[in-house]
Amino acid sequence: MPQPPQLTVAWPGKADAEALLGSRPRARWARREADGAPGPASGAASAEVRGASAVEAGPGGKAGEGSGGVRVTQDDNVLVEADNLEALWLLQDSHAGAVKVVYIDPPYNTGNALPYKDTFGQAGHAGWLSMMLPRLALTKDLLRSDGTVFVQVDDTESAYVTLLGNEIFGEENYLGAFVHQRAKGGGNAKRWVRGHDYIHVWARDITQVGPFVREKQPPARYETIDGERYLVEDDFLRVSFGKYTRGSERRLMYEDIVSVRGEAKKAEIDAGIAMGRYVLRPWGDTGKHAVVRLTPADRASSKMYSIVKALGETGRRDLEALGLGGTFGYPKPVELLTTLVLSQTFEDRDAIVLDFFAGSGTTGEAVLALNARDGGNRRFVLVQRPEALRPVAGARTGAEGTGGIRAAGDDAAEPIAFVPGTISALCRERVRRAGARLRAEHPELVTDFLDLTVVGEGPLPGEPEC
Ligand SMILES: C[S@@+](CC[C@H](N)C(=O)[O-])C[C@H]1O[C@@H](n2cnc3c(N)ncnc32)[C@H](O)[C@@H]1O
Repeated sequence: MPQPPQLTVAWPGKADAEALLGSRPRARWARREADGAPGPASGAASAEVRGASAVEAGPGGKAGEGSGGVRVTQDDNVLVEADNLEALWLLQDSHAGAVKVVYIDPPYNTGNALPYKDTFGQAGHAGWLSMMLPRLALTKDLLRSDGTVFVQVDDTESAYVTLLGNEIFGEENYLGAFVHQRAKGGGNAKRWVRGHDYIHVWARDITQVGPFVREKQPPARYETIDGERYLVEDDFLRVSFGKYTRGSERRLMYEDIVSVRGEAKKAEIDAGIAMGRYVLRPWGDTGKHAVVRLTPADRASSKMYSIVKALGETGRRDLEALGLGGTFGYPKPVELLTTLVLSQTFEDRDAIVLDFFAGSGTTGEAVLALNARDGGNRRFVLVQRPEALRPVAGARTGAEGTGGIRAAGDDAAEPIAFVPGTISALCRERVRRAGARLRAEHPELVTDFLDLTVVGEGPLPGEPEC
């Protein structure tokens, strides 16, 4: 059957954006000079120690030197402070065909007062598309054959990015869009209250991509037994079906099965126990046992629903919980990122996750949180340029420059706050703090990252400012 013609999207400046792909910048990785900010309390190794460990490629890890002295391997967590176009070029040396999940949340081109530059001025949609084209094209080469890319946008660029993504990844590899519900309730909207964004998803090769899944939701409980993670259900066996009055025991204890549900039911349960599907656990001081159903965690998933609820308010609270509240206007909720990343790494806990519009570092925290939760060894690669933080309402912003400052609170008894001067400094500090926090409960968790920047040629030729 003849294939329908592949449609392309045209805009002024597209040829220049495509031309960028033909001229790889002469750039290389460099270890970032430690700024004054994080001390040992941050829980991450020093830049020197991280750098030293980075020189050797980890087992099986492909290394790419990016024509410089620093080796970046697929075994490393990486945080790059640079323009993402240069970083994407350099990642081709170490990560081509290796990344399972790419999540990006680029500037939306809305013109809103955000903590980073969000508008493309006169260039409008054309400028935005010119910015995105080379970045998405380079992303494609980094994806594994079963890799997927999630692109979050609002209405402003949704139509345009769909066409651009289809052109780059192929319309046949477009999986559709999730709706992210980020707000609920009223507001002084002019016409209606917009409480959602879109997360468009493409596959490198749609035939290789498995279902998008999520863990069964609470009250489901997971436990690791003999090194395996199981969904543990101690109330699947009930006295009777239907509603229960509060306080009454609905679980049917093993010792009561025959009198309540009969011999056949007990025989069925005994067979399950013999096969290891159920175990008996003493129940309080009743002297009886609950029948507990164990389902291997990798079989205890359900498919994702197309609407993902994760309120923006939660994203702000996530930063507050790390002592970084009020620094960044609209961080995505960690819960959103754990949901998206998990959906494609449920059974692939060593996967590499890339976010090259990293902002406050939500994706880095989400990757660490997932590893802490399921014992995985996913790695993150984050890229964020050292853009000065713009004041957001109620924000405490810090010094200009690439680092951050430590500022004492008015009250000398208050803990010293880290006030980032740039978004990349915030991102770094957030990932360090999140890692330190998670490691307190999971000492085995790997939270170190290569702390890199890119040196070499100056601004890329023809690169639109964004
Ligand atoms: C919408 S924000 C991302 C927010 C992030 N998802 C979070 O949860 O914090 C977009 C980010 O991309 C960054 N950015 C824009 N252009 C960039 C570029 N060319 N290279 C690297 N970062 C860039 C901006 O500085 C901003 O921090």
